[in-house]
Amino acid sequence: MVRDTYDRELRDLRVSVTDRCNFRCAYCMPRDVYDRDHVYLPRDEILTFEEIERLVRVFAGLGVAKIRLTGGEPLLRHDLEKLVAKVASVDGIADIAMTTNGSTLARHAGALADAGLDRVTVSLDAVDDTSFRGAADVDFPVARVLEGIDAAKDAGLTPVKINTVVRKGLNDDALVDIAGAFRGTGHIVRFIEYMDVGSSNDWKMGDVVTADEIVATIAGEWPLDAIEPNYPGEVVSRWRYRDGLGEIGVISSVSKPFCGECTRLRLSADGSIYTCLFATRGTDLRGPLRSGATDEELVEIITSVWQERSDRYSEDRTGVSVGLPKVEMSFIGG
Ligand code: GTP
Ligand code: 5AD
Ligand code: SF4
Ligand code: SF4
Repeated sequence: MVRDTYDRELRDLRVSVTDRCNFRCAYCMPRDVYDRDHVYLPRDEILTFEEIERLVRVFAGLGVAKIRLTGGEPLLRHDLEKLVAKVASVDGIADIAMTTNGSTLARHAGALADAGLDRVTVSLDAVDDTSFRGAADVDFPVARVLEGIDAAKDAGLTPVKINTVVRKGLNDDALVDIAGAFRGTGHIVRFIEYMDVGSSNDWKMGDVVTADEIVATIAGEWPLDAIEPNYPGEVVSRWRYRDGLGEIGVISSVSKPFCGECTRLRLSADGSIYTCLFATRGTDLRGPLRSGATDEELVEIITSVWQERSDRYSEDRTGVSVGLPKVEMSFIGG
């Protein structure tokens, strides 16, 4: 196991497979920035499935056991199940999850599960059609996302988690509706405090609804009891409905940051590693990979990046977002 300057182990890897998405959530890929003129990564700069598999093998050798595929929207990458199968073949990988917007999940869930995907997390900020179209800024029916969630459950990609980013004045009046839509289904809604990731969303502390406020709102409708984390360092705080109809989670990345337990490394679609969601720069692995680096040389680069790591952005945040040009979430994944 490699450890960083705060003694944190490198345990999970989040792999962005594309910087593209078919949705335009205002806090992530606002339409005026990600318009027709936006330049996405050219195909030859994006890691191939074989390159990702090789890197996953190297990371597994360093003790990484958990992989999350993300984007952009990972299902825009053709034949993603082939990548899943490659990752699943790596010794030491115990958990493969995917974060998706769910738009095409209904038609891919079966093949993904057959290839070895363990579970999915679907990003969804509203459950009624009008609010959903506003939040994702697309002409797309929310019913199709809900069908995708059902298909994931049927395929055994469980527990299906639903990630809902809460923003004051936008969806904070619908928290009970969102929780209610999934209560009793076995799916777990996780409400996420809106963060200042990237530089294209005009984040203000005043836009944040805290995890405590979210829990109080839901508990006002259905009493909740706190439950233990599934594993040490889990980012979500879990709450169970007292009447037994399931659980919800809250992710307090702003009000109660969890940098002390951060064991995550991010690999961008173009093959750079980032040690923090709020990083301003990454370290290129694609260059060495394509110019014939051995596994030992790759291990050396990754180890030194992790050992030098001292990120704790969320714990240092003072209520104002830093002015540096941070990398966008659609580029390195959630
Ligand atoms: P599992 O426990 O594996 O299901 O996933 P997770 O709880 O790590 O959750 P997920 O990957 O779905 O992340 C949910 C949200 O938490 C992300 O969309 C981010 O908003 C936030 N998050 C996850 N990891 C980090 C992190 O390292 N730093 C910060 N600040 N936020 C994070
Ligand atoms: N704050 C919190 N979560 C965010 N996500 C994207 N942008 C933000 C933000 N500014 C979440 C999405 C999705 C995952 C990819 O990251 O909702 O679940
Ligand atoms: Fe796409 Fe997810 Fe970003 Fe929305 S949050 S634009 S669905 S990558
Ligand atoms: Fe980890 Fe950076 Fe998130 Fe803190 S802000 S938990 S260091 S990714």
